[in-house]
Amino acid sequence: MKKKLGFFETVTEGSTSVFVYKSKESKKGPGSKQDGVFYNPAMELNRDLSILICQWLINNSKNKVKLLDGLAASGIRGFRMANELEGSFEVFINDYDEKACFLIKKNQEEKKYGDVKVYNKNLNVLLSEESFDYIDVDPFGSPVSFIDSAARGIKNNGILGCTATDTATLCGVYPRVCIRRYGAVPFYSVVMKEIGLRILLGFICREVCKYDKGITPLVCYATDHYFRVYVRVKNGVKYANDSMEKIGVIKQGNRIGFEKNTVDVGPLWLGKIQYKKIFSSLRTISSSKKLGTKNVLWKLFDLLEEEADASCFFYTTDSLSSFFKTSPPKMETVFDYLKSEGFDVFHTHFSPVGFKTNAGFEVIEKMFKTK
Ligand SMILES: C[S@@+](CC[C@H](N)C(=O)[O-])C[C@H]1O[C@@H](n2cnc3c(N)ncnc32)[C@H](O)[C@@H]1O
Repeated sequence: MKKKLGFFETVTEGSTSVFVYKSKESKKGPGSKQDGVFYNPAMELNRDLSILICQWLINNSKNKVKLLDGLAASGIRGFRMANELEGSFEVFINDYDEKACFLIKKNQEEKKYGDVKVYNKNLNVLLSEESFDYIDVDPFGSPVSFIDSAARGIKNNGILGCTATDTATLCGVYPRVCIRRYGAVPFYSVVMKEIGLRILLGFICREVCKYDKGITPLVCYATDHYFRVYVRVKNGVKYANDSMEKIGVIKQGNRIGFEKNTVDVGPLWLGKIQYKKIFSSLRTISSSKKLGTKNVLWKLFDLLEEEADASCFFYTTDSLSSFFKTSPPKMETVFDYLKSEGFDVFHTHFSPVGFKTNAGFEVIEKMFKTK
């Protein structure tokens, strides 16, 4: 919801209104630096989910929780935390851009959403000086330049929430950029989003493990415009070693989905990417919050929860049917057939026509040729 006020306009998300600089009509995509101090309405679901994750963290912490909106722009995410969360917590909002900081301070003074501390620092400097229980890293493009300092600045049992909008790079459109940034080879294919998300997680894992800390992914998902991961960080060599065991490379000549990769892909995170138990708590928390994207979030939770136990990677009915030169069967037919043959089969949020299964490729082939 938007209201124009001279140089500024107010936007409302959840139960929070903030001033943002007036913009040209907003687009659907990830936005860019040229947009100035930035408010992207397309990221409302991203921010709604961060409210639920922070409330979950507060509910599961014994001490007062320090929450940092590290790359804040207008500060909408941090002000939403201050206004919409309940319990024992304090909010810190940071942006190194002066125009952004001016706006954050205006919002702080005029909106008065509780006790918020505002910083105007380079996030990497701030995270070298102070540590937090929740760190939100929501940059333009790639988060790689913030992960080392976030790994140092996150407290034991804290959560790192991180967005990447360089999806083309992670999906393998620019493989050399992916190798440079993430130290990993991507795979431009039907499963590129899952590979990209796992490359991002693998990168975060390696950065965190350098400091004898380990990660547990809580909620991770991919959209057309961005990837988003929430990982819990635990101190200790044991957690670091356990996490590093989940990093692997998919060797050349293996099948990823139905496609054979012609080069080694990765290194990437091959462990679970959802913490299944969290979804029922997030649903309960969300029922007492005002959230603009609640219905879409619930649908996403259903899918993420369903695929939480599934193995890595998936098939899609349309790519398999073009591979086998048959017409695509209905998803229902695929699910009924694989279940009747005794296999597990799951929907996946990565694709509406995707399915994850423990059935071997010969079974899939037989199904496509006979159904
Ligand atoms: C995509 S915007 C953040 C959007 C915001 N999180 C939201 O939900 O509306 C990225 C912001 O990061 C800030 N930024 C970029 N590099 C930074 C750094 N090294 N330290 C602090 N802020 C930085 C930019 O000024 C910009 O305002």
